[in-house]
Amino acid sequence: GTAQIGVTGLAVMGRNLARNFARNGFTVAVHNRTAAKTRALVEEFGDEGSFVPAESPEEFVAALERPRRLVIMVKAGEATDAVIQEFVPLLEEGDVIIDGGNAHFADTRRRERELRERGIHFVGTGISGGEEGALHGPSIMPGGSVESYASLGPLLERIAAKAPDGAPTVAHIGPDGAGHFVKMVHNGIEYADMQLIAEAYDLLRSVAGYSPARIAETFREWNRGRLDSYLIGITAEVLAHTDAATGRPFVDVVADRAEQKGTGRWTVQIALDLGVPVSGIAEAVFARSVSGHTALREASRGLPGPVPRPLDEAEADRFAARVEQALYASKIVSYTQGFHQIAAGSEEYGWNVDLGSVAAIWRAGCIIRADFLDRIREAYDTRPGLPSLLSDRQFAEEIGGAQDDWRDVVATAAREGVPTPGFSASLAYYDALRAERLPAALTQGQRDFFGAHTYRRTDRPGAFHTLWGGDRSEVAAD
Ligand code: 6PG
Repeated sequence: GTAQIGVTGLAVMGRNLARNFARNGFTVAVHNRTAAKTRALVEEFGDEGSFVPAESPEEFVAALERPRRLVIMVKAGEATDAVIQEFVPLLEEGDVIIDGGNAHFADTRRRERELRERGIHFVGTGISGGEEGALHGPSIMPGGSVESYASLGPLLERIAAKAPDGAPTVAHIGPDGAGHFVKMVHNGIEYADMQLIAEAYDLLRSVAGYSPARIAETFREWNRGRLDSYLIGITAEVLAHTDAATGRPFVDVVADRAEQKGTGRWTVQIALDLGVPVSGIAEAVFARSVSGHTALREASRGLPGPVPRPLDEAEADRFAARVEQALYASKIVSYTQGFHQIAAGSEEYGWNVDLGSVAAIWRAGCIIRADFLDRIREAYDTRPGLPSLLSDRQFAEEIGGAQDDWRDVVATAAREGVPTPGFSASLAYYDALRAERLPAALTQGQRDFFGAHTYRRTDRPGAFHTLWGGDRSEVAAD
C-alpha cells in the first residue's frame, strides 16, 4: 500500500478529516460502508490531494503502507465495535487503529486492552472543532501507547490547528482511555461555557432590557477583552441573526429545549464516581434537562414569582458590566472543576496527564478555544502540581476582583426570578472552598446520630461515636 493514513466512515466529520490529511500532502485511503459516499468524496474533492478510494475493507487495508494507520470515524458505541471486528482480522501486529469518535473512555480502555493482546495499537482520540475544525484544523487528543504516538504524532501535528504561538494543538494525552476522557471533560466544560453565556444573555434580556441585537453588540465588545473565545463570538452571530420567515430575532423562533448527545452527561456521571465536585458543569447538564421537560414546565407556569422589571438605560449598562464579571468568574470556576476532574481521572487510572499541555492544545481548533486557555497553560506549566486553578495567584486575584459584582448579579437574578444555576453554583463552589468551617460538621453529627456512622474530631485523631440513644457520652470507634 501507498497511503500513509486511511479514514473509514465518511460522514461529514470523517470526510473533512480525510480531506484535511490530503490537503496536507498525505496519501489518504478512504472507505465507507456504502461505497457511494467514497465515490462522491473523490469526485467532489479528488483534486485537493491524493486519495485512494477503497470499496471493501480488504481493499482499504491493502491500500495502507505498513505499519497501517487507520482512522475510524463512525458513530460512537456499537458501530465502533462492529467496525473494529470487521478490520481486526485483516490487520497485523504493529498496526494502529485510531478511533476519532466521541467514545466513552471506559469503552476505549476495553478496546485498547483487547487489541493490545493482539499486538494492535488502539488510539482513542478526542477530536474537537466540529465540521470546520475537522477540515481546517481541529484540536486533537490522542490516548494510547507512546509507541503509537511516535508513528501518528507527525501526521496529526500537520492537520491540527495551530495555537497563536504556532504550536500544533495536539499532544499525546496518556495511555488507553486518557484521550477520550480529556475530550469528555472538554465537552463538559463546553456545556458549562454555553450555559453561562446563556444565563448572561437571559439577564441582559430580562433585567437589563436589551434586545437580542444589542446583546450581540455587548458580546462582541466582551469578545475583545478577557472573555475572547469562539463560543462568545458565535453567540453574537446567533443573536444578531434574523429569522427570514418571520422577520423576528432568530433566537425568539427557536424552540427552547436544549438537546444533548451525552458527553456532558458522562462528564458528570464520571465526576460523581470519582468524587469530584463539578457543580457548574452539572448545572449546565441539568439546565438542558429542565428545558426539555415540556409537561413539567407547562404545569409549573402559574407558580408565583417576580416578573423582572427592566432597568433604565444607565443602570442597565452598569448591570451589563457586572454580568461580564459574573460570567468571567463563573467561567474560571468551570475550568477549575474540569481540570480537577482530569487530574482525578489521571490519578485514578495512572495516566500522568500533563494539565498544562491539555490547556495548550485547547487554545485553538476546539469548541472551547479561548484566549484564557493560554493563561491556564501558563499556570500549570509554571506549577505542574498546582492543587487547583483557583490557587494560581493570577486567577485568584481576578476572581477576587470580580466577586462583588458576581454576588450582586446572583442576588439580582434571585430577586428578579431569573434562573442562573451556573452562576449560582459556581459562586457557591467558590464560597465553599473559601470557608474556614463548613456545615459538613453538622452533617457528620446527623449521620452519627441516626446510623452510628462515626465522626472525626478537630482536636485529636481517631474515629468517634456519641451514644445518642443513651447517656450521650463519647466512645472511641476504631
Ligand atoms: C466538539 C464538540 C462535539 C459535540 C457537539 C455536540 O468538540 O467538536 O464537543 O464533539 O459532539 O458539541 O454535543 P451535544 O450534542 O451533546 O451538545
